[in-house]
Amino acid sequence: MELTLVFSLLVLFCLHGVSADRPNFTSLFALGDSNTDTGNLVIMATPDVPVFNNKPPYGMTFFGHPSGRFSDGRVTIDFIAEKFGLPLLRPSLQNNSDVSKGVNFAVGGATSINADFFERNKLVNFKLLNNSLNVQLDWFEKLKPSFCKTAGPSECFNKTLFFVGEFGVNDYNLAWGAGKAESEVRSYVPQVVQNIANAAEVLIKGGATYVVLPGIPPIGCSPSLLATRVRLNKATEFDQIGCLSDVNRVAKYHNTELRDAIGGLRGKYAHAKVIKADFYDPIIEILQNPGRFGVAGGDVLRACCGGGGKYNWNVTAVCSMPGVAACKDPSAFVSWDGTHFTEATYRYIAKGWLSGPYSDPPILNALNY
Ligand SMILES: *[C@@H]1O[C@H](CO)[C@@H](O)[C@H](O)[C@H]1NC(C)=O
Ligand SMILES: *[C@@H]1O[C@H](CO)[C@@H](O)[C@H](O)[C@H]1NC(C)=O
Ligand SMILES: *[C@@H]1O[C@H](CO)[C@@H](O)[C@H](O)[C@H]1NC(C)=O
Ligand SMILES: *[C@@H]1O[C@H](CO)[C@@H](O)[C@H](O)[C@H]1NC(C)=O
Ligand SMILES: *[C@@H]1O[C@H](CO)[C@@H](O)[C@H](O)[C@H]1NC(C)=O
Repeated sequence: MELTLVFSLLVLFCLHGVSADRPNFTSLFALGDSNTDTGNLVIMATPDVPVFNNKPPYGMTFFGHPSGRFSDGRVTIDFIAEKFGLPLLRPSLQNNSDVSKGVNFAVGGATSINADFFERNKLVNFKLLNNSLNVQLDWFEKLKPSFCKTAGPSECFNKTLFFVGEFGVNDYNLAWGAGKAESEVRSYVPQVVQNIANAAEVLIKGGATYVVLPGIPPIGCSPSLLATRVRLNKATEFDQIGCLSDVNRVAKYHNTELRDAIGGLRGKYAHAKVIKADFYDPIIEILQNPGRFGVAGGDVLRACCGGGGKYNWNVTAVCSMPGVAACKDPSAFVSWDGTHFTEATYRYIAKGWLSGPYSDPPILNALNY
């Protein structure tokens, strides 16, 4: 009887990865966009590409001041660092002298496809910053010698967790925001996913063993895209939640293609742990069950911080501009500023990636060095 109980507890602990002496990753590197950025865009910003997240109320919940993140507090990668007892990741463009715990290459606005594609195709009418996935990979390659000072690559990364992404949100948002139709945006998906898989492959060939590949969230539910597509008269089909059906169909297609690409990587690199992280279902879960998450039912598609209107998002009055206020309790909202999530949402995502069910395998169960 007692033995059975002890055994059941042991099984439970092992399954959930909560045993006290579970090993920790000792460093963390991330490539990505504004869902992961911890300060790079603020450093990269130019008069042509200004930033909004360097002013209050960004950071109001956790840091108490703008931290370079696109949220009221921490983002997913922060909660993951905390879980392993690692310092919150510093932005790579800060030129840190100590890179021994890893750094963050993610930059707000980064695309998977190289920036010139969007300029050539007139999806933007300004010069994008040079920070797409391949550029970030380049930054990583340049930093590698200072991280792997003595050991060879396969040893120096043997307790390192890598994130490639999320990528894709900006590739698609630029096109949706320019009023493009589903068939055109959909045609980008193979290239977007291929670039992500290629980057993961470069990392694995360079010695990485643990690589997390997050999919994209249901961007058809983002207040900024909802408001923009309505304004452009391109919002023709809504699902039961009130999200844009065409936008979410493409997001789902991206996630399915990424899943297949992950299958390919696993087949090719059996020694590596390629972890698939789901950014889509956890958001839908909250949107469909707001009460369970302390989110006000009428506000699921409204930003906490924004300039009014049905979705509380207005292109000429965005969060941090004069006169634009945040809601009192950001944890009662899914979306922080119309495009990015509240700390509460990012925390839920991190929990689902670390312990399941939104990760395959759960990150905590992937540790077997
Ligand atoms: C892993 O990190 C957590 C959080 O800091 C800590 O509680 C735990 O003791 C660490 N485990 C090991 C084996 O160092
Ligand atoms: C980092 O170093 C580069 C190259 O030396 C320099 O151009 C850049 O201004 C530095 N960035 C910061 C934030 O100090
Ligand atoms: C962008 O950055 C990469 C890597 O740092 C560099 O090789 C490339 O020349 C840059 N491209 C432009 C257009 O500045
Ligand atoms: C990981 O690399 C370190 C050197 O950085 C080495 O001492 C250790 O044995 C390696 N562990 C495994 C499991 O390869
Ligand atoms: C958006 O904000 C501008 C400037 O504050 C304002 O003039 C306009 O009426 C707002 N539009 C909507 C739809 O609320």
